[in-house]
Amino acid sequence: MTVSLGTPLTPHATRALLLGSGELGKEVALELMRLGAEVIAVDRYPDAPAMQVAHRSHVIDMLDGAALRALLEQERPHLVIPEIEAIATHVLAEVEEEGLATVIPTARATMLTMDREGIRRLAAEELGLPTSPYRFVDTRDGLVAAVEELGLPVVVKPVMSSSGKGQSVIRAASDVDAAWTYAVQGGRAGGTRIIVEGFVDFDYEITQLTVRHVGGTSYMAPVGHTQVDGDYRESWQPQPMSEAAWAESRRIAGTVTEALGGRGVFGVELFVRGDEVIFSEVSPRPHDTGLVTLASQDLSEFALHARAVLGLPVPAVLELGPSASCAVLAEGSGVPVFSGVDDALATPGTDLRLFGKPRVDGRRRVAVTVARGEDVDDARAKARAAAAALRIELAQG
Ligand SMILES: Nc1ncnc2c1ncn2[C@@H]1O[C@H](COP(=O)(O)OP(=O)(O)OP(=O)(O)O)[C@@H](O)[C@H]1O
Ligand SMILES: [Mg+2]
Repeated sequence: MTVSLGTPLTPHATRALLLGSGELGKEVALELMRLGAEVIAVDRYPDAPAMQVAHRSHVIDMLDGAALRALLEQERPHLVIPEIEAIATHVLAEVEEEGLATVIPTARATMLTMDREGIRRLAAEELGLPTSPYRFVDTRDGLVAAVEELGLPVVVKPVMSSSGKGQSVIRAASDVDAAWTYAVQGGRAGGTRIIVEGFVDFDYEITQLTVRHVGGTSYMAPVGHTQVDGDYRESWQPQPMSEAAWAESRRIAGTVTEALGGRGVFGVELFVRGDEVIFSEVSPRPHDTGLVTLASQDLSEFALHARAVLGLPVPAVLELGPSASCAVLAEGSGVPVFSGVDDALATPGTDLRLFGKPRVDGRRRVAVTVARGEDVDDARAKARAAAAALRIELAQG
């Protein structure tokens, strides 16, 4: 089959609409534009990172089904590419059903993964993949009962949340009240449903980047990472692991991505203990820890996503050597102004992205550094040093 791609801003354009326009969407937008796509960026606030590089943009509440539907009818994109979970996914199911647009990877995947219950039941109960033991509860009493059944420690998360919001660990019975209150406040849809998971004492955790494309399924080298307060801080590739554990990682990733279907990049989050691999969750889109692939691969996860969703071939990816990324966070209120960028870039093999987020209120990731090194430790040290060289002032106005 021959893929034909049009010319942007003409009636022959191949239109791709991004739902969510953050730093990951910005990289996807750039890769799509390199291939001649017309890119429409959407988010709930103006001047979001991907909007700054797109052909045009719209500000809507993506959880508002009527507003989303109206926008899709107005723009008539060929591809709808979600970057976030908080979307009125029933509208995506409708447009897919009606043949109005192709939803990446599939509408069902976006529905299942926006809700921890959907993806966990699919993985554990339908596909039989190894996961932490879990219970779903709606009340404080239910939480107490789940703690008794699973034993301490447990991890508590709202079923609708991301980036660690509302998530905490119960280590002692006295933590139950705080965990319950925090989870109920942190849930996205204002609901009280939570998942209680047995705490997995893993040796390390990885993201298994997996690409479903026209020629099959490809697995990138494992990405190791550290998480603090629900946010990734550092990632590196390749994470050293046993042959058996990596084979099991690919098996789990292959099984869950096959069940979700469609085309594109998936970030399959796995916990590893010895040769044992435990499925945690999956993003049906490029993953933040995969920012490391900006340094480590000839085709980054964003380039791979663009190719896969456009129906283009994904050949074997060239690995460029041990690499790392380091997230740069700003805390406070104001417009980020960066200095020390020259120092950060002085070391060969080091690069960075300043996301262009219009402002910070609270704690936000505003940049990332990436580096190649002699080995993973060297790459991590370089990426950290580059991040430390950046100074961020939050300017007023
Ligand atoms: N059952 C568990 N046992 C041990 N650690 C866990 C467990 N569940 C989560 N964690 C830790 O918390 C991190 C965040 O959990 P999870 O990925 O479920 O949350 P999230 O809000 O979806 O985060 P993100 O959106 O950043 O991926 C994991 O990467 C892992 O480090
Ligand atoms: Mg996660």
